[in-house]
Amino acid sequence: MKEEVKETLTETVQNFKSYLPKYFPLPHPSPRNNIWHYNVGKGFNSSDKESHEHPAIFPEKLAEDHILSWSNEGDIILDPFSGSGTTCKMAKKNNRKYIGIDISEEYCKLAESIIAKY
Ligand SMILES: C[S@@+](CC[C@H](N)C(=O)[O-])C[C@H]1O[C@@H](n2cnc3c(N)ncnc32)[C@H](O)[C@@H]1O
Repeated sequence: MKEEVKETLTETVQNFKSYLPKYFPLPHPSPRNNIWHYNVGKGFNSSDKESHEHPAIFPEKLAEDHILSWSNEGDIILDPFSGSGTTCKMAKKNNRKYIGIDISEEYCKLAESIIAKY
């Protein structure tokens, strides 16, 4: 590699590195960013084992971050596909009112029993 090119590359890399402290480390996870990261799967999604009776729950932390970001205490949270009731549970835990709807009576009963614990 030509010495001139090498110098230019070195300078570019150094310039780039000088920006890094401004942007790294990113708060992780953080509701203040556009991209949120969550651990998923059994043991991570829900603090209630029974939730896994539903085959497609989503992480309760995801529901909570949305609730805290977009609503205030006392607001009503609507989840028209509530499944095991993750959204309603996190709404209740964070002093919101909630309406959960699910086409399956079985999942409505499951959600009710989980939410009742809080
Ligand atoms: C991906 S799951 C939601 C899981 C939920 N977020 C949780 O954490 O448990 C989608 C739910 O939508 C329900 N569903 C599907 N079609 C529906 C409809 N037309 N009206 C109401 N609920 C429906 C299913 O029964 C299922 O429980």
